[in-house]
Amino acid sequence: MAKLDILEFPDPRLRLNALPVEAFDAALKKLADDMLETMYAAPGIGLAATQVNAPKRLLVVDVSEAHDAPLVLVNPELLDSRGSEVCQEGCLSFPGVFADVQRKEWVRVKAQDVSGKLFELETDGLLAVCIQHEMDHLVGKVFVDYLSPLKRSLLLRKLEKQRRKAG
Ligand code: NI
Repeated sequence: MAKLDILEFPDPRLRLNALPVEAFDAALKKLADDMLETMYAAPGIGLAATQVNAPKRLLVVDVSEAHDAPLVLVNPELLDSRGSEVCQEGCLSFPGVFADVQRKEWVRVKAQDVSGKLFELETDGLLAVCIQHEMDHLVGKVFVDYLSPLKRSLLLRKLEKQRRKAG
């Protein structure tokens, strides 16, 4: 496995619309494994292929404390959703900044695993929020897009400050 470089905002590649995965081959399996390793090392709870400069419809998530519940979603599709909740979100492409975003509280998603097998997943809470955040990345959307212009500019200024601090 290998750690991948994570694209950071405002890299224009974060705005790409990811293409459906068609080949369920060893390269896809390796990309998913590398993404999990990269996410755990960051550390983060979700990562979309778009963020590692691989614009394919693929995302990985693991919201467990012990990092022992990895989920790989290939070609995910939202089938149903209910309710709403506000959650504080961060993003590995925006290191060090966080903002409240309103999401659906419950989702039902259809996806394929790395070998192409279809499955459905119903979930709520943090995992549901995380999946919605990562699915946005696959269509070139990032969490700051949900903020008011004022909140967004404050957050982006803070992001700049964090970057200067990080050197
Ligand atoms: Ni993100």
